[in-house]
Amino acid sequence: MDAAAPLPNLGVPLPPAPAKRRISLRAFGMLAILGLIVLATVMVTSALLFRGAVQAHLQALEEAHSRYGALQQQRLEAARRGADSAKLEDLDLQLRDAWQQRERQLATTRHYIDGSTVTIASLAWLGITSIGALALLFFSRLASDIAVVRARAQAIVEGDRSPGVPLARSDELGELSQAVNDMALALGKREQELAVERRNVMHQEKLATIGSMAAGVIREIGNPIAAIDGYARAILETRTSAPPPLPQEEDGSDVRPILQETARLIAITREISGLAAAPAAQWQLASINEIVAQTLGVLRYEPRLEDVKVTSELDPQLPAVMGYADRLVQMLSNLVINAADATASLPPHTGRIHIATRQVDGGVELTLDDNGCGMGPEVVARAFEPLFTTKPAGRGTGLGLPLCQSVVRAHGGRIRLDPLDGGGTRATVWLPLDRSEPVHPL
Ligand SMILES: Nc1ncnc2c1ncn2[C@@H]1O[C@H](COP(=O)(O)OP(=O)(O)OP(=O)(O)O)[C@@H](O)[C@H]1O
Ligand SMILES: [Mg+2]
Repeated sequence: MDAAAPLPNLGVPLPPAPAKRRISLRAFGMLAILGLIVLATVMVTSALLFRGAVQAHLQALEEAHSRYGALQQQRLEAARRGADSAKLEDLDLQLRDAWQQRERQLATTRHYIDGSTVTIASLAWLGITSIGALALLFFSRLASDIAVVRARAQAIVEGDRSPGVPLARSDELGELSQAVNDMALALGKREQELAVERRNVMHQEKLATIGSMAAGVIREIGNPIAAIDGYARAILETRTSAPPPLPQEEDGSDVRPILQETARLIAITREISGLAAAPAAQWQLASINEIVAQTLGVLRYEPRLEDVKVTSELDPQLPAVMGYADRLVQMLSNLVINAADATASLPPHTGRIHIATRQVDGGVELTLDDNGCGMGPEVVARAFEPLFTTKPAGRGTGLGLPLCQSVVRAHGGRIRLDPLDGGGTRATVWLPLDRSEPVHPL
């Protein structure tokens, strides 16, 4: 297989991240700066207002003070001039009134300065403290979220490929966390694809080794078998032509069983020679009925099929499709072996596999039914997942169906598994008739 060939896409594409209302870190920074500007403006405006109000108070105080000073002067003048007591009494009254007014103004000014100072100081304290607390909260959350993303990246480096939980943030860090999780999923999917490819290549190499080994064995045993066959025929001919022929069944020298067995051996060696021939890796016209026959031929000596009755119902009018014949055999072998495995738990001699082909709209359809253990919804949902297997370690790798899927997809076809009513499973493969090029080379 061409190592540079694009890998098959085994899974569904990652779902697009849901659109969220996004507040970026930059926007958050701008908000914080805006908050500081507003606070500073409030402080400056308060200081200016305070200054204006204090000046107005001081002016009123000055006026009260001047009036009191002027009245004091008038009182002194009047006393020196010897004014009458009624005039002096009136001036005293005015003087007391001016003194009280000045004292009131002084108290109001003091009170105003105290109140305003406390208000402005409280306002400044509250503003600075809230902005500081918000900044502290924001940065400590940012630091802990960055630590979470760092830990997740570290876990991915160490092999964790789980989907992970994205940070509940709608800013750049939330997006980064989502991207890191997507990366883990994509990495896991890619690794699974590579595992399937590796197994694919290994399988091909194994087939090639078995093929060349079988070719050697055939050469070695083919000649003696042909010789035995020749001798047996010669003996039979001599016996039957020499009158009177001896009743062979009686003297125990019947050579016909030898001929039957050698004929069987010759057929087997011919089949293995056929298998050992270089695999047809080209994209060519392939008959699915032929593929079925070839697959059953390949699996004739498979121990898992020993106790399973395999029947077929092949449409004789089935048109040929374009495809990689050897890969289709490999795909069908996987399906047959899965079906045989599924029947393993049945009582002896009750396992059944039925293969049928027919022409359907725009393509050919192959169905493979078994009366095995069937598949629960969870197994149906995960069967094509690379490395998913319900078989004990050493019996299944969970790569058979992904491989089947990648072969079928390369042909532009579809494959599905459905539980059958009354137990068992149906595998359905649909291949298009109008495909002149593979979706991707295999
Ligand atoms: N015909 C079937 N009946 C019941 N279950 C099936 C059938 N075909 C597949 N499965 C389920 O799907 C799982 C995945 O199959 P798949 O062929 O990918 O892997 P596997 O057979 O377990 O291992 P491998 O094929 O790599 O040796 C199986 O373990 C089995 O549980
Ligand atoms: Mg399998």
